Amino acid sequence: MSDGTAHAVNKKRRRFLIGSTSLVGVAGAAGAAVPFVGSWNPSARALAAGAPTTIDISRLSPGELLGPMPAWRGKPVYVFSRDEATLERLQTELDRLSDPDSENTDQQPEYCQNEHRSRKPEVMIMIGLCTHLGCAPLMNPEVQPQDYDSEWIGGFFCPCHGSMFDLAGRVYKGVPAPDNLLVPPHYYESDDVVVIGLDGENS
Ligand code: FES
Repeated sequence: MSDGTAHAVNKKRRRFLIGSTSLVGVAGAAGAAVPFVGSWNPSARALAAGAPTTIDISRLSPGELLGPMPAWRGKPVYVFSRDEATLERLQTELDRLSDPDSENTDQQPEYCQNEHRSRKPEVMIMIGLCTHLGCAPLMNPEVQPQDYDSEWIGGFFCPCHGSMFDLAGRVYKGVPAPDNLLVPPHYYESDDVVVIGLDGENS
């Protein structure tokens, strides 16, 4: 083997070794990363999955969805206020709901697993996508019989296949949607500013 050939072979071998070492390095790094995932706090996980959104709720009018519609991770965020009478009505038809106590813990953070599914009883925040096939449910706060429900006490109706939710986003029994509407992680930065996508420090 001439000097030139030997040099070429050595160079190839060196490249191969560098490549192999890099692969081991990546595998090692991936292996080392796994234990850390479990130790992330929820805020770090949320931050990694999508930037938070800040919403000014100072213009929130009673009984109406906040507009223009805010979005988080490309999903519509429904923000609306509820008065005392609405909050009381939320407790009147529990036997008609599939999951009145929000036992499916995937559908809201722990701090919203309460009778109104929110941090502040008067302000409801949820993702406006039906848990059936993802249509946008329509808000109908009227307390009067509807074509789709003769005992309607206000809520959301999904026109795609007829799912119904109350004004806490809890799904009615016997409709196609399987779960309550999703409440995203959020916290109040001040009375009028809410941050969607993070749990906040005192969660
Ligand atoms: S997408 Fe809402 S009922 Fe089917």
